[in-house]
Amino acid sequence: MNRYKIEGGNRLKGSIDVHGAKNAALPILAASVINSGKSVIHNCPDLSDIQNTIKILELLGCSVTREANTVIVDSSNLCLRSIPKDIMVKTRSSTMFAGALASRCKKAYIAGHGGCCIGSRPIDIHLEAFREMGMDIKEDSGEVMCFASKMKPCTVNLRFPSVGATENIMIAASLTEGKTTIINAAREPEIQNLADFLRSMGVKIKGDGTGVISVWGTSCPKDAEVTVIPDRIVASTYMCASMATKSPLVINNVNVRHLSGFIATIRKMGVSVICLKNSLSIFPPDRMINVPYISTAPYPGFPTDSQALISSVMCTSQGLGIIRESIFENRFGHCHELLKMGADIETKNGFACIRGVKKLSGAIMNSHDLRCGAALCVAALGADGISYISNVNYIDRGYENLCQSLKNLGAKIERIE
Ligand code: UD1
Repeated sequence: MNRYKIEGGNRLKGSIDVHGAKNAALPILAASVINSGKSVIHNCPDLSDIQNTIKILELLGCSVTREANTVIVDSSNLCLRSIPKDIMVKTRSSTMFAGALASRCKKAYIAGHGGCCIGSRPIDIHLEAFREMGMDIKEDSGEVMCFASKMKPCTVNLRFPSVGATENIMIAASLTEGKTTIINAAREPEIQNLADFLRSMGVKIKGDGTGVISVWGTSCPKDAEVTVIPDRIVASTYMCASMATKSPLVINNVNVRHLSGFIATIRKMGVSVICLKNSLSIFPPDRMINVPYISTAPYPGFPTDSQALISSVMCTSQGLGIIRESIFENRFGHCHELLKMGADIETKNGFACIRGVKKLSGAIMNSHDLRCGAALCVAALGADGISYISNVNYIDRGYENLCQSLKNLGAKIERIE
C-alpha cells in the first residue's frame, strides 16, 4: 500500500519553493531527440513521469544525465525502436515522441498513450494534423505507425486548442523546412517554454502564446538549452493548502502571470494575494465565500488541473458554488471521495454543485488520478481528525516529494508504504 496518513486541523507556516513544471518538461524531453546532439534542460523536476520519459529516451539510445535540477540529453546515438507498451502507457509524454521521432527518423511507432484516466483522451487531433503535414498514418488497435518521408509545410486548423496536439505539431514541424502554421493553437505557458527550447535549436517560431503559431523548421538543429518554467499547478496546490488550513504562506519560484486565472478566482473568494515578480504571499480569511460559478477553460481560463484542488477548498467555504469541467469528461473522481469527509457535493453532466459545510472530517480515501490525490491531501489538511489517502503513487507523477514539502510547512503527514 502506498498511502498518506494526514492529521488535519494544523496551521501551516513558512515558505515553499515551487519546482519546474511537469507539463513543460515532458514535451521538452521528447523534443530533445530532434537535434542529434546535446540538450541542457535546467529546472527539470524529478518526478515519476519524468523518470519514465527518461527511460524512453534511454531505450531510444540517448544518453541522459542529471546533475541536481539539470538534465542533459545527448541524442547523437538515437536508434529508432518501438518502445514497450508498458512504458508508453505510463506517461502522456509518450505521445509527443510521435512528432519527435517522425521528424528525425521519418518513422515513429507509438503503442498506446498514457496519462491519468480523466477521460478518453484520444489523439485524433494530433493524427489529423500529422496527415495534413504529409505523414502517412496507420492505426491498429491503439497502435499508431507514422511514416514521415514526405512531410511538407502547411497550415493546420485545430478544431480544439489541444495542448498535446499543438506541442506535437510544433515538434514535428521543427525539421520540416518552410512555414507550418497552427491555427487555433493552445496558448498555455508550457507551449511557450517548448517554443523557447526549439528556438534555441535554431527553429524559427512566432506566435507562441497566441492562437496562431508559425514554425519555420531547420534541417540542421543545434545543441539546445532551456530552463523549465515553474509549475503553475503545483503553485495552485500550495495556495489551496493555505486556504484549506487558513494559513498565510509565501510561495517562491512562481510566475504570477501564469497564475492569473487562478488568482482572480480566489480573490473573489475573499483571499488576499500579494504578487511580487517571482513569489507571492497568500492570506486566506477565516472562511472563504464560494464564487457562484467556475468553469474550467483553456489558458488563460481557470485550469482544469486546478479544478479538483479548488473543489476541496470550496467544500468548507460559505455558500453554494458550481463548477463546470469543460475539458475532460471524467474529472470529478475527487468529489466521490470528498463525500466520505462529509462534503455536500452533487455531480451531474460535467457539473459539480458544492454547498459549503463548516468542517470536513478525516476519512479513508483513494486517489483516482494525480490532481485528485493532491486535492484529497488539501481537504485532509484542513479537516478534523485523521485521513488516509491510498494510491499516492499518482501524486508522485506530478509533485516532487509532496509529503516532505508539506511537512516542512508544519503539516502532520506521513507516507506509509
Ligand atoms: C495537457 C496536460 C494536462 C492538462 C491538459 C489541459 C500534459 C502532459 N498534460 O494534456 O495536465 O490537463 O493539457 O490543460 O501536458 N482531445 C481530443 N483529441 C485529441 C487531443 C485532445 O479529443 O487529439 C481532447 C481531450 O480528450 C480533452 C481535451 O481535448 O478532452 C484537452 O486535451 P489536451 O489539451 O490535448 O490535453 P493533454 O495535452 O492531453
